[in-house]
Amino acid sequence: MSRRVEICASAELAPGSVRRFEVEGQAVAVYNIDGRFYATSDRCTHGNASLSDGLLEGETIECDLHFGGFHVPTGKPVAPPCFEPLQTYPVVVLDGVVHLEMDG
Ligand code: FES
Repeated sequence: MSRRVEICASAELAPGSVRRFEVEGQAVAVYNIDGRFYATSDRCTHGNASLSDGLLEGETIECDLHFGGFHVPTGKPVAPPCFEPLQTYPVVVLDGVVHLEMDG
């Protein structure tokens, strides 16, 4: 069973940007990539860094601590020292509002 959790108005997150949100006690990074919205865990799987502080280039988020990278739509690591995938969350936009689908 999943629940829809309201995050923000889609207009609040410009294309090419990423922002951190606390969602039910979890830090989640929400991305706007060319008008498509994605969400991943905000914490880098390599260390204690917030990916929303990193650099979003195309579909890749680069961690600003050791410059590892992840493919945002899939959460797959694409640049060392990151080897563990990121958790991703399904996103739906309804009436101009970004929602996450959370499990449980
Ligand atoms: Fe992100 Fe090391 S903490 S690359």
